[in-house]
Amino acid sequence: MAVWFQALQTKLGVIDPSELLRPEPSFAAKPVGQFRDYTIDPNDPIKERVRLTYEKMHTNQTVDFVNKRKEHWLKFDKFESTIMEALLKLNDLVDESDPDVDVPNIVHAFQTAERIRAEYPDLDWFHLTGLIHDLGKVRPDTLRMLE
Ligand SMILES: [Fe+2]
Repeated sequence: MAVWFQALQTKLGVIDPSELLRPEPSFAAKPVGQFRDYTIDPNDPIKERVRLTYEKMHTNQTVDFVNKRKEHWLKFDKFESTIMEALLKLNDLVDESDPDVDVPNIVHAFQTAERIRAEYPDLDWFHLTGLIHDLGKVRPDTLRMLE
């Protein structure tokens, strides 16, 4: 039996075995203080915003919730937008889950695409992926709604 599984069995209430596998080998030398910290800190409003966002997500993310969201959104009948219109809407977005991005999200989109292009100049599909990776965060009520 794997060591991690034995350890899991001894920790009552633990249902996420990934805790026992962290950090991944590529991050093994990274000091613990450089990882994101999700502990409670009422004196740090950004840290609290991020912590509460993840707490809400983890509390409310159920199969039933996801199935209802899929039923609502996967009809593709709510709005239409070009990619550029959606990217421009990222300017209005505050990503409550990300403590590191304090620029408009469209800047983050282009920075991500450019960093990928610098690292992988021949993978144009990857540049595009970096550009559009946060489009799922666009609030549909800010786009042209379909009737
Ligand atoms: Fe992002």
